[in-house]
Amino acid sequence: MSSGEPQPNDQSRRLLEDFSEVFQCRATHLALAPGRVNLIGEHTDYNDGFVLPMAIDRHLMMAAAPNQTNTFNFVSKAQKETTSAAINDFEPRPQEGWMAYPRGVLAGYAEKGLPLTGFDALIDSRIPLGAGLSSSAAIEVATALMAEAVGGFHLDPLERAQLCQAAEHRFAGVPCGIMDQFAVSCCLPKAALLLDCQTNAFESISLQSNDIAFLIIDSNVKHALAESGYAERRSQCRDAVERLGISSLRELDSLEGLEEKLRSEDTLRRRVRHVISENHRTQAAADAFQSQDWREAGRLMYESHESMRNDYEISCPELDFLVTSLKELPSRFGVFGARMTGGGFGGSIIALVRADAVQATMEWIEKAYRQAFPQSADAFIARPSGSARVEPVP
Ligand code: GLA
Repeated sequence: MSSGEPQPNDQSRRLLEDFSEVFQCRATHLALAPGRVNLIGEHTDYNDGFVLPMAIDRHLMMAAAPNQTNTFNFVSKAQKETTSAAINDFEPRPQEGWMAYPRGVLAGYAEKGLPLTGFDALIDSRIPLGAGLSSSAAIEVATALMAEAVGGFHLDPLERAQLCQAAEHRFAGVPCGIMDQFAVSCCLPKAALLLDCQTNAFESISLQSNDIAFLIIDSNVKHALAESGYAERRSQCRDAVERLGISSLRELDSLEGLEEKLRSEDTLRRRVRHVISENHRTQAAADAFQSQDWREAGRLMYESHESMRNDYEISCPELDFLVTSLKELPSRFGVFGARMTGGGFGGSIIALVRADAVQATMEWIEKAYRQAFPQSADAFIARPSGSARVEPVP
C-alpha cells in the first residue's frame, strides 16, 4: 500500500547522494516525471477522440551533470539492479530495451538541430513497470527535460510530448497515441485533463475533494500480447476508417446507418462501437467529475470496462475479477466505479472509492485476489499530481 511510498524530497535526496557516489561529482540538474493513470477514454487517443488522464504521485527522477563529451551515460537503479549504457549516436538499435526511449528522444532533438550537450545521468523510478502507468513516457519526458536543461534550450510542453511520442514510435516500435506523453508533460496538480486528441485542446477537470480517493490495483499480469494486441487494435481502427470512407472514427456519433457497411465484419463493428461509446462516456465523465457526481462518474467507469472487455477485447480474467469483485461489494465499501486503465491485456485497474472506506476496500481486494490467483496484486492510493519538471539542485 501507499503510506510507505517515499515523497519526492526523500527520493531526490537519495538520488543526489547516489549520483555523487556513482559519478564522483555532484549532480547539477534534477528532472522529475510522474506516472499517469487514465480515468476514462481508452484507445480513443489514436482515433482523434477524448481522454481523461491525471498524473500520479509516483515519480521517475533523473539526476545529471554535463560531462564535457558528446556521450550520454545513463545508469538506472531499476528493480534493485543497476544497469548502464552510453549513447554516442542516435541510430535506432533493434531490441535495445529501455535505452530505446532516451536514444529516441535525443535523436529527436538532434534532428531538430538543437545543440545537445553530453551528460551523465542516474535514474530512479518509483512507477511500477508494465502496470499501464506510463513508466516509459516518464523516462522519455525526463530525458527530454534533461536534454533541454543541460543544452540550454526549451520546447513547449506539447511539442515535447510529440517529440517523445515519435521516439516511442520509431525507437521502441510502439504505435502509441499522444495521451501518455501529454499527461506526463502537461497535467496539473489536483486535476485531470480532458484532452481532445483531434485538436490537442484541453480542459482542466478539478479533483479537489476530500470525499473520494483513487485506488490503483496492479494485477501484476504482464501479457506478451500487450504490444501485438495494441498494434492490432490500431490497425483494425484504420481498416474501419477506410471501409467507412471517413478520415477518423471521431467523425462518428453513432453506429446508426453504418451497420450495413460493417455487416460482415462483426469484429470491426464492435471495435468502432467501443470508440464511439467511449468518446461519449469520457465527455460525460468529465462533467460528472467536475460536478462531483461520483455515482455517475463511477457508473461510466464500469460501463467503460464492459465495453473494453466485450467490444474492444483488451481485458483479461484478472482485471475482470478485480472490477467485478469491487462492483459486487456492499455499499459500505464505498466503491463508485472501477475499470482497467492503459493499453490493456494486463496491468492495472483504477477504482473511484469513498475516502473514508478506501483503506478497508484496499485490504479486502488484495486478499480476495490472493485467494483467486497465484500472484498478488499491488494496491495503492494515487493522488492527482503536477507534470514533469526540472527542479533546482540544492
Ligand atoms: C497506451 C498508449 C496510449 C493509449 C492507451 C490506451 O497507454 O501509450 O497512447 O492509446 O494505451 O488508451
